[in-house]
Amino acid sequence: MEYLSVEIDKNWHYIGVNDRETRLFENMWPLENGVSYNSYLYTGEKTALLDTVKINKSGVFVEKLEAALNGRPIDYLIIHHMEPDHSGSITTVLDMYPDIKIVGNKKTKEFLENYYQLDGYNGFSYDKNFVEVADGEKLSLGDTELTFYLTPMVHWPESMVSFEESTGRLFSQDAFGAFGSLSGAIFDDEINWEFYLDDTIRYYTNIIGKFSSQVKNALNKLAPLDIKMICPVHGPVWRTNPGRIVKLYQTLADQGTEEGVVIVYGSMYGNTEKMAETIARALAVRGIKNVKIYDVSKTHLSYLLADIWRYEGLVLGSCTYNNALFPPMDTLVTTLGNQKMKNHTIGVFGSYSWGGGALRKLQAFAENSCYDKVENTVEAKGTPSMEDFEKCAALGNEMADMLIAKRDKDYVSF
Ligand code: FEO
Repeated sequence: MEYLSVEIDKNWHYIGVNDRETRLFENMWPLENGVSYNSYLYTGEKTALLDTVKINKSGVFVEKLEAALNGRPIDYLIIHHMEPDHSGSITTVLDMYPDIKIVGNKKTKEFLENYYQLDGYNGFSYDKNFVEVADGEKLSLGDTELTFYLTPMVHWPESMVSFEESTGRLFSQDAFGAFGSLSGAIFDDEINWEFYLDDTIRYYTNIIGKFSSQVKNALNKLAPLDIKMICPVHGPVWRTNPGRIVKLYQTLADQGTEEGVVIVYGSMYGNTEKMAETIARALAVRGIKNVKIYDVSKTHLSYLLADIWRYEGLVLGSCTYNNALFPPMDTLVTTLGNQKMKNHTIGVFGSYSWGGGALRKLQAFAENSCYDKVENTVEAKGTPSMEDFEKCAALGNEMADMLIAKRDKDYVSF
């Protein structure tokens, strides 16, 4: 039975691990369904290990590695990406195989030294043990070879992928990855894709989304390759329908949206929430079916980002807190500003008790964004009046009309 490693093809082994212990990826993003750290091993004429795993899983990783090697040493450790969820077990591997040659690019070397101070570690020297590869350069593994393509900022500056031209196999590091541990199924034809879709969108929007223009550069660079299998460092291995994950990444990088509205409110005493409900009702009556309301104090930023990325309409409403935005809404707005999302339609509203402030901040955010703006707005003082609720409905109606006008030409489906 394939417990320790899974053969993905002749001489190629999947030796990734699942992490269902870590609660927050990068100590920020919830991992309700866990995550996999994928690693691959080649055992042909030469042996090559492609990426390692986070340090907390090095024990089971070493078991899998040793089983697949079957007593052979490792010739090369190829580092596609230096974030510690993949580089964390490098020194463990170096301890076991001190003669190994690490393969990376110029920037990989800088990260290696900054994170792990390898120069002199267990006899390691960059002159003797490091093979620097440039964009388009090949590495022979004896009976096959890999070609490297630099994909900067997908996800870090040193990120690169490798391609086995003879088989069409792409080792894509974070690109085409997903949250979610691999529960028995390793390959795309063994999973229910719907089961992984939300976690894939959340992974993209939380981790890679900010770098969408670089993702598009990478997709364009890889487009001429005849890709038949994609082996990412997170999530399923795409051996049957790699086009599906490529299409999803293209859609996400292009910031294609579905018809629907995400309303996020910050409310201390329930007044701003009532206004959100009124806007949602107006949208529903006008025929907008995908309407989601979130309490910014309760729903994690991770899920808010994923849904906001996905749906065309965004309505932000905040109570005023100490003459400023409600702090959890401030965090959301700051994050959205950093994400540089496009292709959205935004409406804002607020409430206050004496001096105001939240609506002004939300309006400033909307003005600085490149979203289409809903002109109707409303700011309630204390409990919303009937006039305030009518203004909420007007906001919802205007948003609905703007979204309906985009039907049949601007929307995508995930
Ligand atoms: Fe999965 Fe950017 O590390």
